[in-house]
Amino acid sequence: MAATYQINRSFDWNYENGPVFGGPMPEVPETPTKDFFGLAVNSRLGIPAGLLLNASWIDFYARAGFDILTYKTVRSAFRPCYDLPNWVFVDRDDQVDPQRLDEAQHRLTATPPDYTKITSSVSFGMPSKAPTDWMPDVERARKALGAGQVLIVSVVASPAPGSPVSEMISDFGALAAMAREAGAQIVEANLSCPNVCTAEGDIFLDAELSGAIATAMRKGAGDLPVLLKLGHFSNNETILQVLRAINGQASGVVMVNGISRRVIEADGASVFGKGREVSGILGRGIHQFSLDNVKTAVEAIATEKLDLGVVAVGGVSTAEDAAHYFNAGARAVMLGSAPMFDPSLAARFKRAHPEW
Ligand SMILES: Cc1cc2nc3c(=O)[nH]c(=O)nc-3n(C[C@H](O)[C@H](O)[C@H](O)COP(=O)(O)O)c2cc1C
Repeated sequence: MAATYQINRSFDWNYENGPVFGGPMPEVPETPTKDFFGLAVNSRLGIPAGLLLNASWIDFYARAGFDILTYKTVRSAFRPCYDLPNWVFVDRDDQVDPQRLDEAQHRLTATPPDYTKITSSVSFGMPSKAPTDWMPDVERARKALGAGQVLIVSVVASPAPGSPVSEMISDFGALAAMAREAGAQIVEANLSCPNVCTAEGDIFLDAELSGAIATAMRKGAGDLPVLLKLGHFSNNETILQVLRAINGQASGVVMVNGISRRVIEADGASVFGKGREVSGILGRGIHQFSLDNVKTAVEAIATEKLDLGVVAVGGVSTAEDAAHYFNAGARAVMLGSAPMFDPSLAARFKRAHPEW
């Protein structure tokens, strides 16, 4: 199977040379216009923060028919990527139970034959170009979009170790303003990266802190919609607390990020190495538990009459997977890893479901 992202090559290689694609480009059907947080879109199908490393990637997947494009998470200062490996396939297509923290996944050495069944794991460390590089590139990405397409820019704070929490909150706010200035139509705060071995990976479990970040993002973003990327919750009460805390500041949530697990070789050694034992699991194996979280959030928003929308992510590689989320009340459905193998997914979904 050809892949647009070459997992055996470095992040920098993929940044400079990707996406790799032999063509032909999919034919994208015309679809009626829909609303996405006040913006007109051809479809509510997109790619979340991850695969779209820069403007070249956004240009490619926009031409392939994805209409909500997220620029991979950026920071207020340069941050190198972790060493290879950064992305591996793991040995399951049944569901990763978020409660079973004792479980570990084994790395697969060969690419699985059916991409719709792939579960994988990433450990990049949220690398970022310096703002002097990513801001002009965001502007290029915005220019690459066609009518009915929307650019989200994902940001994360980089507080110095031991610095007060207020520094992190104001970094998020400053980043929202920078993303807006660069050309973002929506700004997103990543509160959930499970592959970073610091407390910043768990921000979304702290309702008060999530609320404070939403407020800072709101200020920095001006009149742009603000989204918060959340990880997996094993407790429904915490979902409710977070939604209440961000209501009135954020426009919505993107959920969920990968589910954290140890990823090991056959001999038990860590695949990603020391300090990176735990990483985010993506794809087929997280679909059911992501769907459960999305359903809980949509129901809580309706019951509490909150002014928030839910953008769904997690294990979508077939139209049936996407239907699960739309039927659950998601505003949009994002495909994180599957488009790496099949850039025609959005075009095919739109042909079968012009209403999406
Ligand atoms: C290569 C790659 C890099 C990722 N980097 C980020 C990131 O920088 N920020 C973020 O919020 N999520 C990141 N993610 C997580 C995705 O946004 C998404 O939550 C995850 O892939 C689950 O969706 P999936 O099951 O469709 O793959 C990344 C995913 C992939 C595949």
